[in-house]
Amino acid sequence: IKRIGILTGGGDAPGLNAVIRAAVKVAVRNYGLSVIGFEDGFAGLVENRSRRLTLKDVVGILPRGGTILGTTNRENPFHYPVRENGEIVYKDLSQQAIDNLNSLGVQALIIIGGDGSLKIAKEIWERYNFPVIGVPKTIDNDIAATDQTFGFDTAVATATEAIDKLHTTAEAHHRVMVLEVMGRYTGWIALHAGVAGGADVILIPEIPFTIDKVCEKILERQREGKKFSIVVVAEGAKPVGGEVVVKKIVKESFESIRLGGIGNVVGEQIERITGIETRVTVLGHLQRGGSPTPFDRLLATRFGAAAVNFLMEGRFGEMVSLRTPDITSVPLAEAVGTMRRVPLGCDLIRAARQMGISFGD
Ligand code: F6P
Repeated sequence: IKRIGILTGGGDAPGLNAVIRAAVKVAVRNYGLSVIGFEDGFAGLVENRSRRLTLKDVVGILPRGGTILGTTNRENPFHYPVRENGEIVYKDLSQQAIDNLNSLGVQALIIIGGDGSLKIAKEIWERYNFPVIGVPKTIDNDIAATDQTFGFDTAVATATEAIDKLHTTAEAHHRVMVLEVMGRYTGWIALHAGVAGGADVILIPEIPFTIDKVCEKILERQREGKKFSIVVVAEGAKPVGGEVVVKKIVKESFESIRLGGIGNVVGEQIERITGIETRVTVLGHLQRGGSPTPFDRLLATRFGAAAVNFLMEGRFGEMVSLRTPDITSVPLAEAVGTMRRVPLGCDLIRAARQMGISFGD
């Protein structure tokens, strides 16, 4: 292998640039490779938009959030939006993507992404036998076959800081503060930040809740003389047997504006049932922004370096993975399609319950 490509797909996560930096440094300095960065995720691959990444291009990017490779986006070469007669139709343009890789002389590709991007990586490997390696990224920490994804630690740090701040204002007004954090399918951010921030109630998708149980906990605290409570809710948390519609305003010129849903629903119900003044904060994309924590910088750096090393060893169709304390690789087929949920019997849930944190069940 003389030339490799790299792209960032899906939503962003703090640490993307740290992966790119490590991969470029290891590729150029140790193997004499040239590196091509595709712009705007899979769009750059399909539309042949790329640029050479040299050592100079990665100077100073370690602490930077976002990605130097344009935008990340959720586009898929196997189902690619094309405008035809004023309408958007979806086409399989994967062969075009492979042709672009071949014409650029790119012999292997590093794909940094979440479940969606890793599925595309698997498809590229299986259908075209094109050498790929995946790097697991998402603040949600929900990818199977790795102990952790990069971006998660930074999101937890941001959410924990928010809980700390909410604590002081909650105490000053004797209020209930509800904080909605990200986590569409899993409650990793809510659980970790909730425990780290000393929340009283943590609601996660893995444990359906009953609002009466949540209120019971808050009223019990009142009786104990604790005049405020902190409730952390993952955006994907659901009441027992219920579905909560996440409100979205969809307009012609805007894709969507996410307003937050479950946090507001829970906050409104708490105030109505307990009679205690309640305020809701939706933390939203603050969790995806900013500089990665030292842990995420390290994990991203180790992933980026390993991705290049593994490609040079011929470990194709795999994903780099943290199996503490080592970085190893696993077949992409093992990593995608299964969500890594919070195990209900894990020690953190147990300790949290033992310390009096309610999960609303
Ligand atoms: O998967 C990461 C994530 O941040 C989720 O926690 C969240 O539900 C989603 O992405 C938000 O996506 P978007 O930025 O497209 O609104």
